[in-house]
Amino acid sequence: MSQRHNTPIEGGLRTRAVHAGEGIDPVTGASAPNLVMSTTFATEEASGFSAHDLDENSGFLYTRWGNPTVAQLERKLASLENAEACLCFASGMAAGSGLLLSVLSQGDHLVTSDTNYAGVAELVRDTLPRMGIEVTAVDTSDPTNVAAALKANTRMVLLETPANPLVRLCDIAAISELAHAHDANIKVAVDSTFATPIATRPIEHGADYVFHSLTKYIGGHGDAVGGAVLGSKQDISALRLEAAIHYGGILSPFNAWLIMRGCATLPLRMRAHGETALAVAQFLESHKSVTRVMYPGLASHPQHDLARRQMDNFSAMLTFQVEDGPAVADRMAKELQIFHYAVSLGHHRSLIFWMGTDDLMTTSFRLSGDQLESYRAYAGDGVFRVSIGLEDAEDLCADLDRVLG
Ligand SMILES: Cc1ncc(COP(=O)(O)O)c(C=O)c1O
Repeated sequence: MSQRHNTPIEGGLRTRAVHAGEGIDPVTGASAPNLVMSTTFATEEASGFSAHDLDENSGFLYTRWGNPTVAQLERKLASLENAEACLCFASGMAAGSGLLLSVLSQGDHLVTSDTNYAGVAELVRDTLPRMGIEVTAVDTSDPTNVAAALKANTRMVLLETPANPLVRLCDIAAISELAHAHDANIKVAVDSTFATPIATRPIEHGADYVFHSLTKYIGGHGDAVGGAVLGSKQDISALRLEAAIHYGGILSPFNAWLIMRGCATLPLRMRAHGETALAVAQFLESHKSVTRVMYPGLASHPQHDLARRQMDNFSAMLTFQVEDGPAVADRMAKELQIFHYAVSLGHHRSLIFWMGTDDLMTTSFRLSGDQLESYRAYAGDGVFRVSIGLEDAEDLCADLDRVLG
């Protein structure tokens, strides 16, 4: 079969980022992927009306069940992550909530990172317990904390690495091994949004699921919200039925088309992001007004060895601390010329945002005792979370220097 028939493409990540999942259109010869906005598809054979009638060989029937443009992106992401299958969602949160609510049932127990993206942190602390799902949040940067939290009814371990907002890492291989040794049915899921498949492919380290906010590096341009979950064919088929077809938070074909265009340059962008982030991190580390910098690519990061083992690229998320964070944040919002003082990450534009520890403890993480101490050891009273874009490192450093004083 030729590329015209969408065969999986062999080769390196850069080749697969461009070609995997796509193909020359057999009717028109179009080289770029078609954008198929049709919500419904005419069939030549009568078939069942319920999604329970779907099987692997079913054609397209209705876009909530599957769509040709979204399917191309799903095949490309599966190839990049080295996963059997992928399912796209309307956002990273739709991917995360779809996964959690499909796999976990009343009476199940979830072990999760005590710091992760605030939306996920609040979902697992507020929504899941309301549904009778027990949740234990631990500092997953130490695998022994995960081992100690596992119970007879543990059904999932949910990790994020590097994790929001501290860029703290966890050892996916060590945690997957101990979770599966405790009970082979436990599913290990990793939010790999900060890393991207260019840096880390969690399934190769023993995880069962990986999920992404495609809104960040994978889309890469800050103009399309999306999410994805990847895993085995069997797990992703079950997820498609429940989380996509029944919960309904599917990715729009237009966003899939934009995100697929972002994917093609992902390996090149990640290389540039990583190089610039290291230069900015080194500049900040030597700056008189900066008290601490956290970047997995710096030798001073407490988990630099793990980062070297687990990440092929250190990505471009870093945090730093200064003496009076809120006052500097105020200056940044008014005076930065290149950085946008804004949430989100992974765009070609550099972004920066202040994350106060007390605020995050009240709203999202609600840590106490040793866990709060460990958080403060990393973050002090708060950190600037920085997403380094694709601008020149010297210009970014000059922009920061002007407001840091
Ligand atoms: C690590 C991580 N996971 C998930 C999400 C949620 O993604 P989305 O905004 O696409 O719903 C975010 C958003 O910032 C994130 O940073």
